[in-house]
Amino acid sequence: MSGRLPEDKEQLFWKIFKETYNGPRYKDNKKYMMHGTTSVMDHCVNVAYTAYYMSYKLGIEVNEAELIRGALLHDYFLYDWHEKSWANSIHGYTHPGKALKNAKMDYYLSATERDMIKHHMFPLTPRFPRSREGKILCAADKLCAMKETVYGRIKK
Ligand SMILES: [Fe+2]
Ligand SMILES: [Fe+2]
Repeated sequence: MSGRLPEDKEQLFWKIFKETYNGPRYKDNKKYMMHGTTSVMDHCVNVAYTAYYMSYKLGIEVNEAELIRGALLHDYFLYDWHEKSWANSIHGYTHPGKALKNAKMDYYLSATERDMIKHHMFPLTPRFPRSREGKILCAADKLCAMKETVYGRIKK
């Protein structure tokens, strides 16, 4: 699913991105890679934009600001998960908890944003997100991960 948001929604998206980007450690996401040649920062922007676009296009009512912010912070784990270690071998299961811990340190989070971050890896982690925003994030994350992985591999 790809396309552009209308102008007012586009402005809200980039306003929330700037506020989040200005947090103490958000810029660190640029130095860690996510999938293929995509940094964690670019992945989070792709996912947040896709989640917002999906809710708009499918007519799903959401709290737009929470959807964008929770998605921008969903992978705020702040380390290179490609380094070989036992801890990184279980990154898929553990990083939502780490991302939530970091995000709580640096931002005030609503219950919806906490739900989004904590449960975005379902079904790898056992709990499905409770919020509508979390369910959309779950789908957008997987779509973007697939796209980034495929394109990353094609470029090599
Ligand atoms: Fe993740
Ligand atoms: Fe992700």
